[in-house]
Amino acid sequence: MYKFKGSVFKLRMRNPKNKEEIINNCDFLITDTISFPNKNPLHIEIGMGKGNFLLKMALNNPDINFIGIEKYASVASIAIKKIKPYHLPNLKIIISDVAKLEELLKGKVSVIYLNFSDPWPKVRHEKRRLTSKNFLDLYHKLFKDKEVIIQKTDNDDLFEYSLNSFKENGYTIEKLSYDLHNEDIPNVMTEYEEKFSEKGIKIKYLKAVKSGKMKLKLIGTGNMWTSFNSASYLIDDHILIDIPNGSVKNLLRLNNNPLNIDELLITHFHGDHYFDMPFFLLYKSKRNNLNLNIYCSKDGIKKINILFKLAFPHSFKEALTTLNLKYNSKDSFKINDYFITKYLVSHGNIKPSYGYLFQNKDLYIGFTGDTSMCDNIDYLASKCHFLICDCSLIKGNKKHLGIDNINSLSNKYPSCKFIVSHLSDEAREELILNEYPNIIVPKDGDEFNLTI
Ligand SMILES: C[S@@+](CC[C@H](N)C(=O)[O-])C[C@H]1O[C@@H](n2cnc3c(N)ncnc32)[C@H](O)[C@@H]1O
Repeated sequence: MYKFKGSVFKLRMRNPKNKEEIINNCDFLITDTISFPNKNPLHIEIGMGKGNFLLKMALNNPDINFIGIEKYASVASIAIKKIKPYHLPNLKIIISDVAKLEELLKGKVSVIYLNFSDPWPKVRHEKRRLTSKNFLDLYHKLFKDKEVIIQKTDNDDLFEYSLNSFKENGYTIEKLSYDLHNEDIPNVMTEYEEKFSEKGIKIKYLKAVKSGKMKLKLIGTGNMWTSFNSASYLIDDHILIDIPNGSVKNLLRLNNNPLNIDELLITHFHGDHYFDMPFFLLYKSKRNNLNLNIYCSKDGIKKINILFKLAFPHSFKEALTTLNLKYNSKDSFKINDYFITKYLVSHGNIKPSYGYLFQNKDLYIGFTGDTSMCDNIDYLASKCHFLICDCSLIKGNKKHLGIDNINSLSNKYPSCKFIVSHLSDEAREELILNEYPNIIVPKDGDEFNLTI
């Protein structure tokens, strides 16, 4: 029952007599696994009601797969009866409360439609609103990459509530209308929409989107022969890429607590990329901060242990037994929202040397590590929105990239922004004197909130 502006509105619905038979004979009803004949993007409507909207959307968009979710079997059976004669390969139905579908839909969805969702006006029912924080947290897990939610409603209070909830939960409102039918926005009407607009009620519409993001702090931007800290990058305050000489001190000087770091990626085993490891491990163990995941090449454990023993011959054993170190040498792995892939790069005789590609939803960020120009660097530049590059030299050689390489990559891939690091003094001076478009020259301690 909807209440608005003093009037009461109820959409009449006849309970179909043969609903069990309709449901049992439905060959597009999902009961356990989702299978479409292709990998097209998946759009879902939560609370599809009698299915008018989804049927038209599926007919108009054969390159998109649709699933309608409806918690009441009686309502769903009306939709099934309507949809069945069309034999659409791109439309399926689930009869369930969406709250129970995390496992089934996890990481599969591209767009969610919320059409005329129940407003649940009482404060004590807030959690039932389909745009409350607990539902947005659930949707976050269902999305494949970029999050897109399109909402339509007649209800002013639900609309204002939803706008706030989307903003508070990190969404951007990309489109907004308080009178959808008088705007140039493509629209397919739902049953409720037809009833409400016949009564002269304006339809509210919004498109909320959430892209990937990364907080990046440059702990070091220089090569080892400069007064700048050696190249090292802190992501979201707890993931560190490379731990060169002086890292613990550098972090402390830049007001970052080294104890927050629980994920460490090493690009390669040159001293200016991992020699602070003993200091970091001892710092953690002495403060009973024990967990650390280390991502590096297979020979990493041995190298780190030898260095630790050499640096602290009387304490390394005890520290190593107390610490909970987990080594990972897989080619791809996940840290929080990031899918991370390792790429072999070409750094003279140091083998293997790795670059890393971080994907967070639709956002791609690469870290080249030390490298010369090679196919994987070209690939990273082609794929990334931001590429954090070794740019040690003015002219690249067999071990390092130079400004000449970065400049030609930036001309070839203008949609990638290049953040240069591991800079020699000469390269830094040249970059500052001759502002290169699309190349950002950071200093130690600079912070970026990277998003699309
Ligand atoms: C007001 S109707 C709107 C129906 C249709 N979307 C339209 O615009 O005509 C809301 C529908 O959402 C369904 N619904 C509400 N909460 C749901 C949930 N958590 N999971 C699945 N369906 C839900 C209800 O059963 C109801 O059929």
